[in-house]
Amino acid sequence: MKNFNYFIAVIFFTVFAVSCNQMSEKKDNKDTVVEKEVILNKPSNEDYKKLIVNRDTFQIKDAKKPTDFELKHTPEIIIGDVNEKGLTKVSVSIGSKGIIHPSIPEHWIDFVEVKVDDSQIEKIINAPGENTNKAEFYLNLKNAKIINCTIGCNLHGIWSNSLKIK
Ligand SMILES: [Fe+2]
Repeated sequence: MKNFNYFIAVIFFTVFAVSCNQMSEKKDNKDTVVEKEVILNKPSNEDYKKLIVNRDTFQIKDAKKPTDFELKHTPEIIIGDVNEKGLTKVSVSIGSKGIIHPSIPEHWIDFVEVKVDDSQIEKIINAPGENTNKAEFYLNLKNAKIINCTIGCNLHGIWSNSLKIK
């Protein structure tokens, strides 16, 4: 009987240890979610905030006939190669179909944000100036279903686009 109790105790401990290990692995997976913000020369003064005059959200009204204004503000998502770390290069152009948004101190793309299945987030905040109408990210797209990209134009508000991953 004593041996039997010992046997039961060993089984119980083994099951408990395996469960703890599985819980730890799940936690580790959650902790590996990328969530960071890259700030590129963002001024911290009030003048910067005053230049951003529109935070309303917009979208293309008629997908069959998007206007040049709508295309100019809609981010285009381009999937690139996978690097040695297993991360995929994702390029964003603002806007779409070759109609590129201005990038001047008075009118620029003040942020570019990407989400993968709403769990992986990276955000670039741009100071007024050059090259704000494009961005590059390296994302873990393993098992990913969709990439969402949201951008902000300081004058014309917030626009987004998504790309399904096969
Ligand atoms: Fe704009």
